[in-house]
Amino acid sequence: MATDLHELLRTLRVWAPEVTELPSFDPESTPDDPLPLFTEWFAEAVAAGQTEPHTMTLATSDEDGMPDARIVMLHGADPDGWSFATHATSRKGRHLAARPYAALTFYWPVHGRQIRVRGPVTVAPAEAAQTDLRVRSTGALAAALTGHQSEVLGSVEELARASEEAWEQAARNPTTEAASWTLYRLRPDTVEFFQGDARRRHVRLAYRREPGTGTERWTKELLWP
Ligand SMILES: Cc1cc2nc3c(=O)[nH]c(=O)nc-3n(C[C@H](O)[C@H](O)[C@H](O)COP(=O)(O)O)c2cc1C
Repeated sequence: MATDLHELLRTLRVWAPEVTELPSFDPESTPDDPLPLFTEWFAEAVAAGQTEPHTMTLATSDEDGMPDARIVMLHGADPDGWSFATHATSRKGRHLAARPYAALTFYWPVHGRQIRVRGPVTVAPAEAAQTDLRVRSTGALAAALTGHQSEVLGSVEELARASEEAWEQAARNPTTEAASWTLYRLRPDTVEFFQGDARRRHVRLAYRREPGTGTERWTKELLWP
């Protein structure tokens, strides 16, 4: 029997009380900089058992301005920016070369929280990408060594062969360099925190970096939900 998508959709809700606890959020008592608040919400998502809180949607646009988005892993967030890694030769890598600007979205349903980060993207030094890869798993290195990301694949057997070789090489030599593997840093212009509310009075707090100031200065404003 065919699945009735619309019937299924009608049965679903967001923020069911059995799985979601909506914390109160007072924007008045937030830090001047978005990074400590991001770190706090991230730690709270981890503590509450949120699955894969370190995955995020990365949105880029191609040279004609057409958007695209996919999930990647967060590798870090510090004053230099939010970092992620991928192949420079992949579709998103080509987008970032043409238009070095991106948006990241995190969603942590366990607390009804969303965070949106936007800004220019730069390429970290090559050694930083290799060091970052080295501290990850053999599987991460094998995946990076498999390469060809976003190219058309002839068959699943072709992937199996390339992957097998990459796993062997990753296990034999954990310091092998993955040529196109690149660490990117998004230095935000804006960071928005969304706290869901059961009465739909969601709190949206947007941080905007003050342009031209040498030191870190952010403006905070509330947005209608
Ligand atoms: C949970 C999850 C984590 C992922 N993490 C990464 C990642 O960190 N880097 C990456 O290049 N691709 C990652 N991917 C695969 C990407 O979503 C995407 O399929 C791939 O990077 C090709 O994207 P592109 O063709 O737009 O370049 C991940 C996928 C999932 C589902």
